[in-house]
Amino acid sequence: MTDNGFASISEGAVRIQPGDDNVWPQASEGFVSTPEVQALTERALTYLQVGYPVHLSGPAGTGKTTLALHVASKLGRPVTLVHGDDEFASSDLVGNDYGYRKSKLVDNFIHSVLKTEEEMKTLWMDNRLTTACQNGDTLIYDEFTRSRPEANNALLSILGERILNLPKLRRSGQGYLEVHPEFRAIFTSNPEEYAGVHKTQDALMDRLITITLGHYDRATEIAVTVAKSGVPEADAEAIVDIVRELRGVGVNNHRPTIRACIAIGRILAHRRARARPGDPVFRWICQDVLNTDTAKVTRGGESLMPQKVDEAILKVCGLRPGRPAPRVVGAGARRKE
Ligand SMILES: Nc1ncnc2c1ncn2[C@@H]1O[C@H](COP(=O)(O)OP(=O)(O)OP(=O)(O)O)[C@@H](O)[C@H]1O
Ligand SMILES: [Mg+2]
Repeated sequence: MTDNGFASISEGAVRIQPGDDNVWPQASEGFVSTPEVQALTERALTYLQVGYPVHLSGPAGTGKTTLALHVASKLGRPVTLVHGDDEFASSDLVGNDYGYRKSKLVDNFIHSVLKTEEEMKTLWMDNRLTTACQNGDTLIYDEFTRSRPEANNALLSILGERILNLPKLRRSGQGYLEVHPEFRAIFTSNPEEYAGVHKTQDALMDRLITITLGHYDRATEIAVTVAKSGVPEADAEAIVDIVRELRGVGVNNHRPTIRACIAIGRILAHRRARARPGDPVFRWICQDVLNTDTAKVTRGGESLMPQKVDEAILKVCGLRPGRPAPRVVGAGARRKE
């Protein structure tokens, strides 16, 4: 700088609000709304309408994400969807520095005096949670316990005091954001994945109303299988009953899930086969789809599951009125020559 010049540098932050990447959920054609689904929807909606965040907790495949989207669609607001992630930091939810912007103003109006003004501003990019709080979206935070607890810190004041704290923006006077009155949050988690050892996560849970989900009742599982695979109802009944029978076998009675019912149904429909024990296609589909879930049941180091699957097929299909109990042979069954 020359002797008769002077310079100033000012600092601050500029907040960038990205365009909306929220969604408007719409009822899918395959969505099934049985009395059980309706009852759960009504409970969740009631809590949300009063202003409480809702937490759908249940093992894998119990319909948490589908129900969260369905409930959110009933609120009639745009939906921001976030998936819990072990790699998440708080900035992934709230926002982060995006670089900086430098501008320089050179004023040489009086030629003997050179005045420069430099402005250095941090660029701050809002992330999804901040945008959702600002716009009054419905947040669906799927599998939130998969994120490290500290990443979820910002949610405590959002849900408690309805204030979002953005410390890095304090200098520019935007350090606190008042949460939009329509902002609502639906969380999902699988209790098998969270042992309850983190204070933040516990504090967060304490602010939520938890609805515990198990597998849907038989009627709902049959209706979902029909809707998602296109098999006739009688076949869906057989498939669901076999899967429900197998939940009692083995170490994890949450498996197999409705996903297995849908998978068997879709493959069966693709092959134009029927859910009958005499149909070899049905039998190998069941063996393959149901085998992994329950493979831990062993005797003498060998998986007992092929046998258990055959027994379940026989028990379920063999007992159906008007059908003779079939002789089970083939994969996994012990053949007597
Ligand atoms: N009401 C419903 N109508 C139609 N399909 C449904 C319904 N509920 C669940 N499903 C289907 O069941 C399967 C499992 O549901 P979903 O993915 O919602 O379960 P989840 O509990 O979120 O599982 P995960 O813990 O593995 O994420 C999906 O294929 C989904 O489409
Ligand atoms: Mg899910």
